[in-house]
Amino acid sequence: MHWADHCATCHGNDGRGQTTIGRNLYPKAPDMTQNRTQNLSDGELLAIIKNGIRLTGMPAWGDPTSQDDSQNWKLIHFIRHLPNITQEELDQMKAMNPVSPMEHAEQQEQDAFLSGSDAPETHPSTVSHPHHHPAKKEKP
Ligand code: HEC
Repeated sequence: MHWADHCATCHGNDGRGQTTIGRNLYPKAPDMTQNRTQNLSDGELLAIIKNGIRLTGMPAWGDPTSQDDSQNWKLIHFIRHLPNITQEELDQMKAMNPVSPMEHAEQQEQDAFLSGSDAPETHPSTVSHPHHHPAKKEKP
């Protein structure tokens, strides 16, 4: 979940760095399934996650003075798992990726379309208070 939410924007759910941002950073986000990353020691990975990498797009995560690295060790465990990640896991992660406001609006429109209404319901309160139009007068 943490990876999908915080790291996948650049690194991709599969760690291969094939995202719009990851590809266009200089230096670009590496393919983390490969030796370059996998040959780093656990300690090196921990230092990178905590401190970031100077002069690159890789930010520092969390409080570098914190003694509790349990979240970071889970991330390192996950990085080690990247070369063997399954399609099922990738599908699960996709649902946890942050969505941009534009994608969010698009998704709402699609949902509204699929559920049969014309536009996303922005004022749910109007639903319980339908307008009552007086019956049309018949022309004499
Ligand atoms: C804003 C984009 C961005 C985000 C978000 C990001 N990274 Fe990175 N990361 C990079 C870039 C770019 C590099 C490569 C820098 C370089 O070439 O030295 C990198 C490198 C790394 C490396 C070293 C890999 C190697 O082979 O050198 C690790 C480990 C890493 N990131 C972990 C993470 C984790 C864990 C997260 C989420 C908590 C994360 N990154 C989020 C951009 C990002």
